[in-house]
Amino acid sequence: PSKSDNQLILMHEFAADMYHHILLNTEEGQAALDYLENRGFTREMIERYRIGWSLPEWNYMATALQRKGYSEEELMNSGLAIQREQGNGFFDRFRGRVMFPIMNESGKVIAFSGRILENTKTEAKYMNSPESPIFQKSQVLYNVHQARSAIRKNRKIILFEGFMDVIAAGKAGVDNALATMGTSLTPQHIRAMKRFAQEIVICFDGDDAGWEAAKRAAIALNEDKFKVEVAVLPGKMDPDDYVREHGQDAFREQVIGKPHAFIAFAMMHARRHKNFQYENDLLQYVQEVLQLLAGRSSPIERDLYIKQLANETKLSEEAILQQYRKLENRSIEQSRPERVAKTVKREPKRIT
Ligand code: UTP
Ligand code: MN
Ligand code: MN
Ligand code: MN
Ligand code: MN
Repeated sequence: PSKSDNQLILMHEFAADMYHHILLNTEEGQAALDYLENRGFTREMIERYRIGWSLPEWNYMATALQRKGYSEEELMNSGLAIQREQGNGFFDRFRGRVMFPIMNESGKVIAFSGRILENTKTEAKYMNSPESPIFQKSQVLYNVHQARSAIRKNRKIILFEGFMDVIAAGKAGVDNALATMGTSLTPQHIRAMKRFAQEIVICFDGDDAGWEAAKRAAIALNEDKFKVEVAVLPGKMDPDDYVREHGQDAFREQVIGKPHAFIAFAMMHARRHKNFQYENDLLQYVQEVLQLLAGRSSPIERDLYIKQLANETKLSEEAILQQYRKLENRSIEQSRPERVAKTVKREPKRIT
């Protein structure tokens, strides 16, 4: 990292220590501490993840950083302060929020996400640091520095949607946990994870958004040769809700311990919101699943899931298999660009 990157990191480390101190040791931090306690955070967890509280004042952190000798320009570059639109001066980006530091792979603070205590319709639940030379959302994964050794040991990553879920998983003894910072999974995230493991369990929220995001992530990871499994939560719960409602053992054993294979999950996804009493739904389901299978090569998986399809839809295996062969032929024809290209290249010869 360059000298100015180091400077930015020092500012974030200073801010993290200050937020953490305010949460734990001051009267002003008490409401946030109560909030965290209500959500099941222990003192140990607060320390492990260096959680803090930003005072609901306009200039608290900016002033503190200036007193440390940081310039106005450095304040703006760090993202910790925001320039006023009119007139001079600037104000703290994070005010009255529970502060979650985001660390780089060496465990140094490079950004924050701040949560308001009570959800409102007007304010974003989480406010994140802006992109900066040390923080790129498309690359950063939450908890890498703490999860890396557990990932290597388990040869497996458990990927969550939110950092609250990573923290809840940690409480339940699931330490090989990562999350993106509120963005969908990028090729850079996937490349970063590939350095640690070849196997991954996706465990996203049980709401519609979570199911859709899990499907997209599963496809991308599968294409990049991860062995993909998906752990599914009942109802609209997220992993953190589940741990609080059903406990740590149930989460470890029933959710993380019983993931669905990629295709089985994709079938569950395709079946959602479909009613097989409607033939349109049924036909669409069969088509979706067969398309998925046609892109894969294992004959055993094909056999297994075609049997399952027949069972679910009450169609004959024979009919499903015929339909499958049609799709497979089509996908083989589509995957022959080299031949087409060669034919084109030969054409000039024929002319001479
Ligand atoms: P969720 O809405 O599922 O949040 O967003 P959560 O983790 O369950 O949080 P709680 O339990 O309500 O406190 C998942 C992730 O999306 C990003 C955050 O990174 C969050 O962890 N997000 C969400 C934002 O960046 N901003 C938001 O306003 C909401
Ligand atoms: Mn969610
Ligand atoms: Mn299940
Ligand atoms: Mn959630
Ligand atoms: Mn949650």
